[in-house]
Amino acid sequence: MKDNIAVIGLGKAGLPLAGVIAENGFEVTGVDIDSGRCEAINRGENPIPEEAGLSELIKRHGGKRLVATSDYGAASGCNVFIVIVPLFIDEFQNPDFGIMERAFRGVGRILAKQDLVVLETTVPPATTETRVRQWLEAESGLSLSAGEFYLAHSPERIMTGVSISRLREFPKVVGGVDIESGARALEVYEQFIPDMHQVSSARVAEFIKIIEGCYRDVNIGLANELLKIADTLEIDFYEAREYANHEYCHIHLPSTGVGGHCIPVYPWFLVKEMERLEKFSHSRLLRASREVNDEMIGYWAEKIVTRCMRVEKPLNEVKICVKGITFRSGVKELYHSRNLALAKFLMEKGLDVYVYDEMFAEEEILELGLKFIEPVDADFVFDSFQLVMI
Ligand SMILES: NC(=O)c1ccc[n+]([C@@H]2O[C@H](COP(=O)([O-])OP(=O)(O)OC[C@H]3O[C@@H](n4cnc5c(N)ncnc54)[C@H](O)[C@@H]3O)[C@@H](O)[C@H]2O)c1
Repeated sequence: MKDNIAVIGLGKAGLPLAGVIAENGFEVTGVDIDSGRCEAINRGENPIPEEAGLSELIKRHGGKRLVATSDYGAASGCNVFIVIVPLFIDEFQNPDFGIMERAFRGVGRILAKQDLVVLETTVPPATTETRVRQWLEAESGLSLSAGEFYLAHSPERIMTGVSISRLREFPKVVGGVDIESGARALEVYEQFIPDMHQVSSARVAEFIKIIEGCYRDVNIGLANELLKIADTLEIDFYEAREYANHEYCHIHLPSTGVGGHCIPVYPWFLVKEMERLEKFSHSRLLRASREVNDEMIGYWAEKIVTRCMRVEKPLNEVKICVKGITFRSGVKELYHSRNLALAKFLMEKGLDVYVYDEMFAEEEILELGLKFIEPVDADFVFDSFQLVMI
């Protein structure tokens, strides 16, 4: 019997996956609490136009092989449930499992014997085998240890903008809460992901995704720190970096910090877990990198103020344009954007700050409570992606 697959959460990560599964010939039920988004998908309209190749998939399968709904009951005929809803951290950097719990309890209520559930959201290690298992068992009345359903983790490894090609070309791992679950999940995923690998457990699969994010956060923190040191010593960091990097040295690029839903969040999963276990010394580097990266807006603000002083105008009349407010270039997303945080930080200091971003119309900028300017009309422009003042 052909698997009937439900994808829970049709956001930037879930919708490309649902599209790829449908493209591989499966009937897919997409469940998302955003009914407007579901209606658009069923009309064949892509709510994430910046995602390369997704519009074609949604046009071809939306409302046909891929049916989106806000009703979990409509997925009760499915035998595979893939969950990709967000996991945010609160103001104290602790994970807030509220959204995930609602999604899994929704799945638990329609779970039947021998169904497979796979979590793709990046989570702290052991989440799948503890919380997720408990939510599913409590709602379904089924028992994992009795072999009544299967449960696995397969971290989603896409990057918004190139997610479809990532799904088709990037290696992807899966690990089960038990051996049978891992094997069953591999069997299902191999039908639509070409480069699948089974690892020994769900916990290993969870850790793989987290440490990839940690590596990048620490490396960007290193680049940011080296930039500040090079600047102090009047050394061109970029010239030095070009020749320092080789097969075993991959110093990343400096920045205004690290934004988005992923990299600035994942190190906290480990830092908080080590703190909970009172192993404070185990995650010092991860915490320091987080702090170094978040503090970069102060470094750039100081440079911008120094630049303002060269303009022959009172400081608070110098028109500063921060060009680029998204968390990274080419993605219309402001979550934890350090560029936006920099613009707001300068505004709080009483400076005359405007923003420009080619992904946002003037009205959208105004709706964010910011002032819009064309770069040519500013006294100077801070290009937050290139890190240059023009
Ligand atoms: N976007 C990326 O580039 C990326 C990269 C790596 C990993 N991820 C992972 O994917 C996860 C999801 O991220 P995203 O970018 O897709 O988020 P998103 O905000 O774009 O989408 C989340 C979707 O889930 C829906 N949702 C929320 N609660 C729900 C519920 N109870 N039931 C059904 N749907 C619900 C929302 O309406 C939304 O459409 C992240 O937490 C992260 O672990 C994303």
